[in-house]
Amino acid sequence: MFTPYEIRKDFPILRREINGHPLIYFDNNATTLKPIQVINAVKKVYEEYYSNIHRGVHTLSIEATEMFEEALRKIAQFINASIEELIPVYNASQGLNLAALLLTINYLNEGDEVLVSVVEHHSNMLPWRVLSKIKKYKIKYVYPDEEGFITSETVENMITSKTKVLTFTHVSNVTGAINDARKIIRVAKRNGLITVLDIAQSIPHMPIDIKDLEADFAAFSGHKMLGPAGTGGLYIKREFARDMEPVLSGGDTIIDVTLDDIKWADSPWRFHPGTPNIEGFIGLGAAVDYLKRLGLENVRIHEEALMKHTLDKVEEEGLNKYIEIMGTKDLKRRTGTFTFRSSKYSPNVIGAYLDMHGIAVRTGKHCAHPLHYYYGWNEGSVRASYYIYNTKEEIDKMINVLKNFFVSK
Ligand SMILES: Cc1ncc(COP(=O)(O)O)c(C=O)c1O
Repeated sequence: MFTPYEIRKDFPILRREINGHPLIYFDNNATTLKPIQVINAVKKVYEEYYSNIHRGVHTLSIEATEMFEEALRKIAQFINASIEELIPVYNASQGLNLAALLLTINYLNEGDEVLVSVVEHHSNMLPWRVLSKIKKYKIKYVYPDEEGFITSETVENMITSKTKVLTFTHVSNVTGAINDARKIIRVAKRNGLITVLDIAQSIPHMPIDIKDLEADFAAFSGHKMLGPAGTGGLYIKREFARDMEPVLSGGDTIIDVTLDDIKWADSPWRFHPGTPNIEGFIGLGAAVDYLKRLGLENVRIHEEALMKHTLDKVEEEGLNKYIEIMGTKDLKRRTGTFTFRSSKYSPNVIGAYLDMHGIAVRTGKHCAHPLHYYYGWNEGSVRASYYIYNTKEEIDKMINVLKNFFVSK
C-alpha cells in the first residue's frame, strides 16, 4: 500500500502556492496532475527520438514507431485488451463520438432504439442525439434510482424488440456512483444488445478488466489518469474491430488504394487517420507504469478512505446543517467524489472562496446538465474529487474553510 505523502514528491506542481496557500488540488475528475515520470517520458521523446510513425525507413521513425506501439500495447493490456482492440483517440469524447458514429453508420437503422442513461456526461449523450436525427433511430432514456445508480432491472424493463444498443457510464463524474456494469451488460447481452461503456471515470480509480465486464465498446481519456492531454482510447471488441468499416479515414488507415478500391489496414490503424499524439501516448504509457506500480486496488482503498474521512468530518463539524451531499453513503459503491450544494450560496461563490484558500474544486453542472435537472439541482453543485496524492489533512483544511464560510456569512 502506498501513502500519498511518499508520492507527492513526484508531482512538481504540488509545490505551487495559490493565493498564498499551498495548492490543494481537488479537481481530479476534470483532469489529474502529472508525475515527473510522465513529464520526463514526453521530454525524452522530443530530445531523443521524435519523428513521425509508420512513415519511413529512417532510424528515428523506426524508433518512434516502436516506442509508440509499445506504449499502446501497455495501455491495451492495462484493461486486458489487445493492441488490435485499442483505437488511439484524443480523449473520451472523441472515443464516444467514434463509437456512436461507427454504430450509426454500420449497424443502426430507422426505427431502432438506443438506450442512453440520464447520468451521462454530455460526451456520451449528445453524439447519440445528433446522429439519431440522421438515421432516424429513437433515443430512450434510462433513469437512475434515487442514489444515482443505473440498475439492470430498469434496463431490462426498457428493452423491446427494436432495442439495439445500450450506452452508459461505469462511474458518474458527478455523484461518483459506481454502476454494476458487469450485471447491466449481462442483461443487455442476453437480449442481443451492443453495449458502449464510458470508463472515463473508472479507469483512473479501479482495476478494469474489459473482458470480464464484457463491453463491446469502451472509451476513456489519458489526461484523467496521470497521462498527457490529447490521449485516450476507444476499446472495440475484436469481432467488431476486425469487421467494421471505418468512418474516419485517411493516411495510415489503409494498406493500398486505387481509384476503384480501398484495402483497409488492420485494426487499430484502420480507425485512426493521420498522425497521432505520439509523445502523448508514450507519456500515457509511463502513466500506466506509474499506476500499475501503485496498484489500482490500492488506489481504490486510498480513495475510499478519503471519502469516508470526508463524510465523517462533515458530520463531526456540523457542516451538514449547511450543505446537501449528492449520491450514496455506501462507500463501496462510490469513488472519491464529494459533490454538494448549499441552499443559500451558488456553487461559484463557494468555489471562489475555496480558491482564495488555495483549494481547486469544480463548480457548475460538470457537463451533466440533464442529471442535475433530474435531481432538481438547477444551480449546479460544487465537486471536490480526489486522487492518489490527496491527503486527509487537505480534506480537513477544506472542511474548515467551508465551515468558516458558512458560519461567517
Ligand atoms: C464520465 C465522463 N465521460 C466523458 C468525459 C469526457 O472526457 P474528455 O473531456 O477528456 O473528452 C468526462 C470528462 O469529464 C467524464 O467525466
